[in-house]
Amino acid sequence: MITTRMGHVGLRVPDLDAAVAFQCDVIGMVETARVGGAAYLTCNDRHHELILIADPVRRGYDHIGLEVAGPAALDAARRRVPAAGGTLLGDVYDGEPGIDRALLVRGPEGHVFKLFCGMERGVRLPDGDRPLKFEHVSVKVRRMRRFERFLEHGLGFRFSDRIAPIASWWHCDADHHGMAVVRSPTAELSHYAYAWPDLNALGRVADRLKAERGRTPLWGPSRHGPGNNLFLYHRDHDGALVEHCAELQRMPPHGDYVPRRWPLLPDQINQWGGPPPLRFVWAGHPIAPPGTGRPPWAVGGASSRTAEPARHA
Ligand SMILES: [Fe+2]
Repeated sequence: MITTRMGHVGLRVPDLDAAVAFQCDVIGMVETARVGGAAYLTCNDRHHELILIADPVRRGYDHIGLEVAGPAALDAARRRVPAAGGTLLGDVYDGEPGIDRALLVRGPEGHVFKLFCGMERGVRLPDGDRPLKFEHVSVKVRRMRRFERFLEHGLGFRFSDRIAPIASWWHCDADHHGMAVVRSPTAELSHYAYAWPDLNALGRVADRLKAERGRTPLWGPSRHGPGNNLFLYHRDHDGALVEHCAELQRMPPHGDYVPRRWPLLPDQINQWGGPPPLRFVWAGHPIAPPGTGRPPWAVGGASSRTAEPARHA
């Protein structure tokens, strides 16, 4: 087992202030640090659950952050990732705010992952309406089996459910899925997701999306089949699809979950009725061309500034 928790997503954005403001105003995130052109945001006591990286040229997602148990797991990943069809993007590095050390790797079809350990805890946030945590990502790939082998043998995910031949769900902890894999003509990010406590919380996000930005959700609220979670989707400031989830199924202990194979029917992916809208099916955020090793914003020794209340705190 390598991955022990979904960490975050890193997104490249042309206007960092505007992207941060959207996350704070609409979703309730709080900025904890800004170093070297990267903003770190959280919604709990962890240093970050989201990274926004200023980049006027390379639009897209930079990496998917996966937490591992410690340095030994990073060493294990250096062996397992290449054997599972991935590529190491440099060596283990340190100096990035909020974590001890990390290793960038590239999986099949160009998806980029940052394995990291030593997340800084103890952030104290004011009362506010915000997610419980960063929860999962959904990635699009052309060849599902090749990517799934990498996910299982390179990153240590375990199989949850499948709707053949279009999608599968994988877990790395007690959540039903930390990663979903969707068959697509293009390799890209389908969406990233936050966890919330209940349906009312999803409604409050929709209210703020309308009040703060004059926009409406793209799909939902409704309830998915695999994972049995309530969902609401909208686009973030830069067009990436973000999902808000509640009541995601919890996995039994000791690996006792029996994977399910769901029929390809509209009411399986949407229990409250109807197929996904085409604007959801077609949505995708590109993979930004990755660098190798220590990123320029891992400048080392940067202390987090005190978290300030979001406008909706
Ligand atoms: Fe999702």
